Amino acid sequence: MAQDLIIAVDGPTASGKGTIARALAAHYGLPHLDTGLLYRAVGRQCALAGGNPDDPADALAACDFTDDRLGDPELRAEATGGLASRVSIHPAVRTALYERQRAFATQPGGAVLDGRDIASVIAPEAQAKLFVTASVEARAQRRFLEMHEQGRDIALAEIAADLAARDERDRNRKDAPLVVAEGALVIDTSDLRREEAIAAAIAAVDALAAA
Ligand code: C5P
Repeated sequence: MAQDLIIAVDGPTASGKGTIARALAAHYGLPHLDTGLLYRAVGRQCALAGGNPDDPADALAACDFTDDRLGDPELRAEATGGLASRVSIHPAVRTALYERQRAFATQPGGAVLDGRDIASVIAPEAQAKLFVTASVEARAQRRFLEMHEQGRDIALAEIAADLAARDERDRNRKDAPLVVAEGALVIDTSDLRREEAIAAAIAAVDALAAA
């Protein structure tokens, strides 16, 4: 295995990118960072402080969250994902979270990061860039099952509407929109089982890292 292997895994919500990123980290023995969690922490902190996530100053003030916040189970809630998508629009928030992600990506040995702008902004030099996607229907169904496993009662239609709204915001924002980066390999997980998606990702990383 080459030294300092950086693996960037980008894609929309509930595409399976988190599962794939964790599996890749285990397979290659690399540390993993779920960068969505950082934006979720900002969104949650902003809401708890009574701030407005659409206001750049309120959102920026919430970037000083402590590491304890990253263990807050409410970060996984669908509503927090919506708040994260709103605070992540502000360039000042993205700048405030940049160094932490950059330092993680460039640590000795390498790392796996998943998010929206890993291959385009955080680690453009990554040897392996994957873009994991799936249809809105498949993603809504997955998120629905995940939420119910966590005991969260939320309707499928509400999840689908929320995913569509977040996709729209993430793709159309000016700063670091969700894009398929140059050189990224697209994996569509709509019709893949978990093990198939992971096997496809490992094969893709092996091929990209060897190139
Ligand atoms: O991946 P996850 O659903 O946890 O991300 C929550 C929100 O955080 C996304 O909808 C997106 O707006 C934002 N995000 C981002 N850049 C990242 C990771 C997440 O803008 N690298």
